[in-house]
Amino acid sequence: MYTINMRTRQKSYPLFLGRGILQNAGPVISRYLLPRPALVVSDKNVADHYAEKCLHSLRRAGFKPYLEVLNGGEKEKSLAAASTLYERALKTGMDRQSVFVALGGGVIGDLTGFAAATYLRGVPFIQVPTTLLAMVDSSIGGKVAVNHLLGKNLIGAFYQPSLVFGDVATLHTLPERELNAGLAEVIKYGIIWDANLFARLEHLSKGVAVKNKLIETGSRQLLPLILRSILIKGKVVYLDEKEKNLRRILNFGHTFGHALETASRYEYYLHGEAVACGMAMAVRLAEMLHILDRVSKQRIINLVARLNLPFPPVNLSINTVMEALFYDKKKEGEELVFVLPSRIGKVFMCKSPPANIVEKVIGEYLQGDLLHN
Ligand code: NAD
Ligand code: GLY
Repeated sequence: MYTINMRTRQKSYPLFLGRGILQNAGPVISRYLLPRPALVVSDKNVADHYAEKCLHSLRRAGFKPYLEVLNGGEKEKSLAAASTLYERALKTGMDRQSVFVALGGGVIGDLTGFAAATYLRGVPFIQVPTTLLAMVDSSIGGKVAVNHLLGKNLIGAFYQPSLVFGDVATLHTLPERELNAGLAEVIKYGIIWDANLFARLEHLSKGVAVKNKLIETGSRQLLPLILRSILIKGKVVYLDEKEKNLRRILNFGHTFGHALETASRYEYYLHGEAVACGMAMAVRLAEMLHILDRVSKQRIINLVARLNLPFPPVNLSINTVMEALFYDKKKEGEELVFVLPSRIGKVFMCKSPPANIVEKVIGEYLQGDLLHN
C-alpha cells in the first residue's frame, strides 16, 4: 500500500492507494480519526459490490457506520440529494464529531463532500474512490459541488477531505467505458505536465492489439499510472488550491468538453469522454494556430482515439456548440479561454482565439474527421 501526503494551504491529509486493501479501510482511517459515527454514502452499483466490505471494516475499527445508498448518476449531484444526506445524518443524531464517507465515483464524492462541507458548518469526510476518474482526479483537490438547473458544479466549495483511500481492485468491476473516461484524465496529465507519462501511455497502447483500447483490462500498469497522476494533481493543487492561476491547466480539454456536454444536454457523453473529445479539439486548435507541431498533435490524437469514444452526436450543429461555448464565456464574465499545449508536457492559456478557427475545429470534430477517421 502506498501512502502519499497531500498538502494544501488549508490542510494536509494522507492518501492511501493499493490493490485489495478495502477491508483495511477502517483500521487505517482509525489511525487518523478516532472511531465515531460515520455516514457512508454510495450508489447502487458500488454498494452492491463494496458497501458490506467497507462497513464491516469500519465496524471492526470501532466506527458506527450508517449506509445511505442513492441511485447515482449525474442527476444525483443535487441540493435535493444533499438534503437527503442532511436528513439521514440529523435523524441518526450525527454531530460535528461524526464523519461522512464517500464510497463511489466522482458523483458520490462531489455530493458527499458538499454535504460534509455544509452539514453543521462542516464535518470531516473521507473519499473512497471506486472509479478511475475519481482515483486520479475528483477525490483529490477538494472541489466539492452539486449541480444547479442552470449548470454543472455551480453550487460548491473548496473543502479538502481528511483522508483518501483508493483500492484499485475495485476497478475490476468498473465498466470499460467508465475506465476509458478515467484514462482520458490520465492522458490529460501527460499532456499538461509530464511528457514521460504520455510516452509511457503510448508505449502501453502499442502492446495492445485491439485498435480501440489503450490498456489491457486488469493490467498491473494501472496502479503506477494512477500514482503518477495523483502526484501531478497533488502538486498543482498544492501550488494553487483555489484555482487562481496554475490549477486552470487541469481544465485542459474542458472548454470544448463542457460545451459538448452542455450542447448534448449531459445525456450523451460521460464527463471523461467529453473531456477526451475536448482535448482532441484543443490540440487541433493549437495546431491551426501554429502553436503545436503536427507530429505532436497526431501523437495526442492517436492516443485519445484509443479510448473508443462515442461518435459525435448526429443532431449537434456547429452553432449549438458555439453557443454553449459562449454561454460559458458570458457566465464567467471573461474572455473565452482555452488551455492549449505548445508541446507534449507543456500548456498555456490562450485567450479569445479567432472564432472562425474555433468553428472550423468544431466542424471537423462533428464530421468525425478528428477522431473517427
Ligand atoms: P460516477 O460517479 O457517476 O461513476 C460512474 C459509474 O460507474 C456510475 O454508474 C457508478 O455507479 C459506477 N461505478 C463506480 N464505481 C464502480 C465500480 N468500482 N464498479 C462498478 N461500477 C462502478 O462518475 P465518475 O466518472 O466517477 O465521476 C464523474 C463526476 O465527477 C462528474 O460529476 C464530474 O463533474 C465530477 N468530477 C469532479 C472533479 C473534482 O475535482 N471534484 C473532477 C473531475 C470530475
Ligand atoms: N478537475 C479539475 C480540478 O480539480 O481542478
